[in-house]
Order: sequence, then structure tokens, then C-alpha cells
Amino acid sequence: MKKANASKALKAAAGALRDAEQHLMKTYRRPPVVFVRGKGCYLYDPAGNAYLDFLGGIAVNALGYSHPRMVRVIQREAKHAVHFSNLFHSSFQGPLAKKLAEWSGLDRVFFTNSGTEAVEGALKLARAYAKKNANSMGRPKTRILALENSFHGRTFGAVSVTYPAKYREPFEPLVPGAEFVRFNDVADLQEKFTSDVCAIIMEPIQGEGGITAVSDEFWSAARKLSAANGAALIADEIQCGLGRTGRHFTYQKFAETPDIVTVAKPLAGGLPLGAVIASEKFAEGFTPGIHGTTFGGGPLVCAAALEFLKIVEEEDLLKNVREQSAEIVSGLKGLQARFDFIREVRGEGLILGLDLSIEGAPIVEEAMRQRLIINCTHEHILRFLPPFIIRKKDVQGFLGTFTKVLEKAPRKAWAQEHKLHSQDALRTGKAAGAKGQAQAVAR
Ligand SMILES: Cc1ncc(COP(=O)(O)O)c(C=O)c1O
Repeated sequence: MKKANASKALKAAAGALRDAEQHLMKTYRRPPVVFVRGKGCYLYDPAGNAYLDFLGGIAVNALGYSHPRMVRVIQREAKHAVHFSNLFHSSFQGPLAKKLAEWSGLDRVFFTNSGTEAVEGALKLARAYAKKNANSMGRPKTRILALENSFHGRTFGAVSVTYPAKYREPFEPLVPGAEFVRFNDVADLQEKFTSDVCAIIMEPIQGEGGITAVSDEFWSAARKLSAANGAALIADEIQCGLGRTGRHFTYQKFAETPDIVTVAKPLAGGLPLGAVIASEKFAEGFTPGIHGTTFGGGPLVCAAALEFLKIVEEEDLLKNVREQSAEIVSGLKGLQARFDFIREVRGEGLILGLDLSIEGAPIVEEAMRQRLIINCTHEHILRFLPPFIIRKKDVQGFLGTFTKVLEKAPRKAWAQEHKLHSQDALRTGKAAGAKGQAQAVAR
């Protein structure tokens, strides 16, 4: 970059930081860096420094940044029509719905603008279906089960089924009828799954919750109980779906299919688009006029999403996800053998986590200083969600930098009490209590 341009860019970035400090609501704690562009797996600051992005826009940037095919489609469709009303057909919604039906094994789709709106749609669909078809011995069939440590979004319905108190309590009273089941605890599920339940919602791999996978037994029990009670089994695949585990959907590792699936994040390659995908039976819960959206599923975003799905297929990215995942996991396990504060390497495909016995935030900060973007959830779980397009050399770059980060980062024991799943909790289906956590920290 020319010197004059660089100093102009730096000045603009400083101004943007000042404006942000003064005028943005304080919902995020951001590092003092402004990104101005991205290419492949890298983001760039105004000085032209490259940051390797192993967070991928929190699972959005599955194709990295500025993928040439995505750029081409977006430019092309911007010249045709960015938006027209959902009162009319576009060339892209139907074909995109068809493709999502093929990928998921389900039948019908409703498009939304975000993940949380997809969750709202799924919960409303389950309630509407139950209202039409309910047989709950005279009781209203409105209860919704969710799992401890879940994260489903920020709007009122979605936050009502999101477990951590910090997301829910400031906004109470929430939507009534939500109840949480202990993670992977089949007995708790059986006890709470009564005939007045209209839906159970779960992430097959909890993302924000700490990269923890629902067990085969739990999924299977939820499937049976949903069917027996005429309730919807909803898989929230907003973070773990659409290829991230090396399958089209994470639930495809289980023997049984859900009734409703929510997706968003990577669907339109970074443009805002989500979807509720449902079986024919449950889709009947929505009839003309009872649900809708102004922006959801406009022509531009749907064209981009069709291209995203085609790229995943044509570039054989699911295979790449599996192969690069194996490389990363093997590298992380090597680091676990070297650093005793790494308690566990977990996850599948390119949704991976490191459970630490020390605080994660100083590691994330040190990584940023070394121009590696990662993230931490629950104070001590590092989360990696790199793009599906990463190559071996990106993985080597990541492991090299990350090793230096671990060598340098301060080691602070985490003190706060977390009701999070430990290894034992995952095996036994009992949530870890304060005592288990304290012992883990002391290790
Ligand atoms: C599993 C899951 N569900 C729902 C959401 C909410 O999606 P959005 O932020 O697009 O509203 C998220 C976001 O992180 C998520 O990870």
C-alpha cells in the first residue's frame, strides 16, 4: 500500500474507533482493531497486516472472504434485484428450498434474516402444529424443552430456550413454557417429556455452550419421545450445520432425522439469511398469513446461498473439512501433551474446542497480538470455527502461531463457578457441580 493511502486508512480507522466508542451501544467488548477487508482465510487491518481467521465470523465465513464465485453472483444479482416482496416468487427461493430439502432429507422451507429468527419460526411452527393437532389430555400443548447450556439466540422466544442466566434474566419475564433438561441425561428427559410438550430444541453440537456433542442415546430417546407425544424434534444447526462437521448436517450421524431444522450463519456466504426446514407433516402448521417476514429470503441472498451450496458440493469441501479437521485435532492433541492446562480437545469437523483449566481470555488476547483470531466461550473453552476452504499450510500456520501463543499467554486459574459439562458429566449425563469444577481447576 502506498504511504499516503496507508496514513489515510489509519486515520479513518482511528476515527471509526472514536465514533464507535461514543455512539455504539455497549453490547460487545472489541479489541481496538478495525478490519478493512478479507481474502481467503485472512482479515486485514488498515496497515495491511494479515490476521489468520480461525473464528470465521463465528461460523459464518465458511468460504472465507471474497470467494470469487460469491463475489460474482452478488455483483450479478445486485444489478437485477436486491429485494422484492415475499408476496411474489423469485427465481431463487424455490430452487434453494429444493436444495435444502435434498441436503436435509426434509420437505419444506421458510426463509428468515438470521438464526434467532429461524429459531422463532421453528418454535412458532411447533406451537401452531400442536394447536391444530394436539391431544394432550385437555392440557394446553405448549411446553418447550431445551438443554442446559444451550444457545439459540437473542430474541424473546429464542432467548427463552437459551440456558445461561446472563442472557435470560435481564429480560424476564420471557416466553412461558420453556424448561431445561440436563445435558445428555436421558432419565431427566423422560421425566420432563410429558404429553403437554410441543417441542424439544437442541443443538446436536452445542457451540456457545462449549463444543459439546449430544449423545446417540439422548438423541434417540428425544426422537422416540417426540414421536410418541406428537411433539417436534428441532435440531438447531445454525452453528454446527451446513457442512461444518464434514456432513451436510450434524444430525446425519444419528440414525433418526429431526422434524424441524434451523440454519443460518454460513448459508448465504456472509449475507444475512436463515431458514426453518421442516417435514411435510410439521410444515402444515404454517398456513397463509400466520407467519411471514419482509426481508427474509430476498432474491440476492437466495442466489448467494444457492451458490454457496453449489461451491460446497463442487469443490468437495466436506472432504476438505474432514481432512483439515484431522490435521488440526492431531496438532491440538500434540499441544495437549505439552501444556498441562489443556484438559480436553473436542468437537468434530471444523467446530472444535479446547477445554482449559486456565482462563481463555488472556490466550485470545495474546492470539490477537500475534494476528490469530480465535474465541473463548464459558471463560475457559477456546473455540475454533475456521473456514471450510482452509488448506494444510493454513493449518500449519495456525498450529505454529498458536503454540507461540500458548507459550506466552499468562496462566490465570478460572475461579468462577460454571455449571458446565465436564468429561464425567458428559459420560454420566449429570451437569458438573461447583465441586467438580474446583477440582478441575486445581489440577
Ligand atoms: C446454535 C445457534 N442458534 C442460534 C443462534 C442465533 O443466530 P443469530 O445470531 O444469527 O441470530 C446462534 C448464534 O450464535 C447459534 O450459535
